[in-house]
Amino acid sequence: MPVVAERGEGVWIYAADGERYLDLYGGHAVAGTGHCHPDVVRAIREQTDKLLFYSNLVYSETRARAAERLISVAPELLTKAFFCNSGTEANENAMRMARFTTGRENIITFSGGFHGRTADAISATFLGRYREIGKPNVPGHLKAEFGDIESVRALADDSVAAIMLEPIQSMAGVKTAEPSFYRALRQLCDGRGIVLIYDEVQTGVGRTGEWFFAGSAAGGGVVPDIVTLAKALGSGIPVGACLVNAKIASHVKENDLGTTFGGGMIAMAAVIATLEAIENDRMLENVRAVEMHLRERLREIEQVVNIHGRGFLLGLEFADAAKNVHGALLNQKIITGTSSDAKVLRLLPPLCLQKDHVDLFVDALRKVF
Ligand SMILES: Cc1ncc(COP(=O)(O)O)c(C=O)c1O
Repeated sequence: MPVVAERGEGVWIYAADGERYLDLYGGHAVAGTGHCHPDVVRAIREQTDKLLFYSNLVYSETRARAAERLISVAPELLTKAFFCNSGTEANENAMRMARFTTGRENIITFSGGFHGRTADAISATFLGRYREIGKPNVPGHLKAEFGDIESVRALADDSVAAIMLEPIQSMAGVKTAEPSFYRALRQLCDGRGIVLIYDEVQTGVGRTGEWFFAGSAAGGGVVPDIVTLAKALGSGIPVGACLVNAKIASHVKENDLGTTFGGGMIAMAAVIATLEAIENDRMLENVRAVEMHLRERLREIEQVVNIHGRGFLLGLEFADAAKNVHGALLNQKIITGTSSDAKVLRLLPPLCLQKDHVDLFVDALRKVF
C-alpha cells in the first residue's frame, strides 16, 4: 500500500506525509491491543532496562509468568506452552510434536488453509500458489475439504499423525464451518489416535471476541490437542507459541524442540502486558458489542452481499472485486485487507475499535459506492 507508516496510536496509523489512517487491518492482525498500547509499551521498556535476552536454557520469572498467564486463559485441557518466534515456527513445532506423539508421519490439512512459509508449513498450505513457491514440498501432506467431514474420513488412516486447520480460514476469504464439523473432527481424532491441531495464529488472543476459537460455542466446544499462536500475542514484538495438553507434553523430551530466541524476555514481557491489556480494557466484551454494531450498520450498504466470520475477523463479500473497494477506502484513509477470494474484503482491526470508528467506516463505504 502507498503508505509510509511512522507512528501508531490505538486504531490510528500516522503516515510520514502527516495523513492519519483508520487501521482496520491491524498490521496483519498483529495490533490486537491497538498500536502502542501504553501499558504494553511500558512493560517492554521496563524489561529492556533489566535484561534484553537470555535463552530458555535458564529459568526466567518473566517467561514463567507469561506461560502461566497464557495457560490461565486457555481451555482447561491445554496446560503447557512452548514459546517460539512466529506463526510458521509454531506450526512446524506443532506438526513435529504430533509426529513424536503418534509415531506417524502424515498430516491432513484443508484446501484454503494457510499455515506459513517455512518448508513444512508451506507444504501444509493448500491455498493458491503457496505450495508451488515452497517446492520441493515436504512429503506426507494430504488435502481435505474444509467443512466436509467425509473428505477427512477418507484420508484419516493409521498413517496420519495430525489434522491441522485454521478453524476460521482467514486468507481464503474468512470461511467458517458448522460447529458439527469441529465436533466430528474431534471424534474422528479420538477414534483413530490422531492429534488435532488448531492454527489460531489469526483467530487466537481475542480476535473472535473470545480468548480462543478452541473451546468456544461457535466451535462446538471442541478443544484440540494443540493450539498455535503468534500475531497479536506480543502486540508487535515477534512471538509464537504452541499450547499443548498433558499427553502431547509427555512425548516431548529434552532438546526435542529448540529455538534460540523463543521465550526471550522482551517478548515475554510483551505477552504478559498484551494479555493484561485485553483483560483490563475488557476488549473481548468490546469486540462482541462493536461487531454487532458493525453488522447492523452494514445492512445500510446493499453492495455488501454477505458478512463472513466472527468478532473482529470479518470478511465482507461484495458482488464485484473487493480490490476496488480496498483501493477506494485507502483513498479515504482507511486501511483494510483483501483475501484470496476476489470478492471478499477482510477486516482485522485492533480489539479496541469503537462504534464511532465503525460509523466512520460505514460512511466511507457509502461514499465509495
Ligand atoms: C493462520 C496463519 N497461520 C500461520 C501464519 C504464519 O505466521 P507467520 O507469518 O508469523 O510465520 C499466518 C500468517 O499470516 C496465518 O495467518
